[in-house]
Amino acid sequence: MDKFVITGGKKLNGKVAVSGAKNASLALMPAALLARGKSRLYNTPRLNDVFTMIKLLSQMGIESRFEDDQLELNTVDIKYYEAPYELVKKMRASIYVLGPLLSRYGYAKVSLPGGCAWGPRPINLHLMALQKMGAQIELEQGYIIAKTKRLNGAKISFDIPSVGATGNTLMAATLAKGTTVINNAACEPEITNLANFLIKMGAKIFGVGTTILEIEGVDELSPSEINTISDRIEAGTLLIAAAITKGLVELVGANEYHLYSVLSKLEESGVKVIINKDSIQVDATDAEIKSVDVSTAVFPGFPTDMQAQWIALMSLANGTANVTDTIYFDRFNHVPELVRLGANIVVNDNSARVVGVKKLIGAKVMSTDLRASASLVLAGLAAEGITEVLRVYHLDRGYQKIEEKLNSLGADIQRVQSSEY
Ligand code: EPU
Repeated sequence: MDKFVITGGKKLNGKVAVSGAKNASLALMPAALLARGKSRLYNTPRLNDVFTMIKLLSQMGIESRFEDDQLELNTVDIKYYEAPYELVKKMRASIYVLGPLLSRYGYAKVSLPGGCAWGPRPINLHLMALQKMGAQIELEQGYIIAKTKRLNGAKISFDIPSVGATGNTLMAATLAKGTTVINNAACEPEITNLANFLIKMGAKIFGVGTTILEIEGVDELSPSEINTISDRIEAGTLLIAAAITKGLVELVGANEYHLYSVLSKLEESGVKVIINKDSIQVDATDAEIKSVDVSTAVFPGFPTDMQAQWIALMSLANGTANVTDTIYFDRFNHVPELVRLGANIVVNDNSARVVGVKKLIGAKVMSTDLRASASLVLAGLAAEGITEVLRVYHLDRGYQKIEEKLNSLGADIQRVQSSEY
């Protein structure tokens, strides 16, 4: 199992490109199931989660070809309509095959995802929406078994604007009979990317990018192609890497509109943000980072996927910051590890009170999930001495060659095989 050995204290400086968005790819890939033939997804990141999705789709009979960042998915010969426990337990986003399989083939058997590293993550809204569209759903031995002759359009209102439930329902509704309305839909950029792909496939979707989506079902979709949006969470993580090391970094391909909330908090903290035509630059060379409170929210609010990284930055800020997660109440596994590096953080309910300290000191720390790991790497970049981050397989799920990118900016991170677990 790999670990990172980080020699901290290097200011980051330079230019780096942002990869395609993991969470967009994980929705776009199953969408290919909705049509027969070859779809092409450009700017697909080479991540372990993407490879897990490829494996899941290939078990169903989809052929995939990955060339550079172009992923071709050929759906001509689909034989199985199942997502087994072995893959779903590795990656919850496997649930995205449920809507397309059910809508196009009338049958899907998908393992229930279960809990995740930071607590329960239910899928009741996915199931409620499909049931409203007429699906018969049974739970058997840990599996969801969903059947229908053909889904019918329905009026669906979500209590919470769930990204996954919106994506699944949207995909299912494209081939349903009649019109579906999704009220309180998630409007994260990854959902907009998915909706635009479905439209290119021939779907009729209105209200894209808003909280009310209207979908007029069609009889058939055709394979198509789309450019995956850039990864706003990778971009945000790299921007914080610049800030926490008092560096100057330009991110090529970062999308300002997807990052407003993060950029605005960075500016409040005292960092200079410069927006160029195709890049975003963060200049923290003269910055005295100030504490800034953050409360996560659905898009366009501050993303929960950036909460752990923000806490890392606030650990070294001047003052006290309250960081609240309103999306995932228990997502604070990074805190005890940051404390091992010398951070002063206390968690109460879904809020972390972060009292900035003058310095962090390197130590061994343990990754527990993807974004927690990112926050430990950020802290390690700024800590005095050597920080070892164990279990970096979590990072490999969602960051494409993060150590290479950071090293190209002047960081000193070595990936080392380790028997430590
Ligand atoms: N929720 C329900 N019932 C449901 C679905 C969700 O109560 O049926 C609740 C969740 O418990 C949570 C909230 O709704 O409190 C939002 O969850 P959502 O469904 O939006 O999350 P998701 O689709 O499972 C995606 C990302 C996550 C990201 C969240 C929130 C993908 C593959 N995953 O998950 O990304 O944190 O949206 O923005 O798109 C990550 O990349 O590290 C990651 C965890």
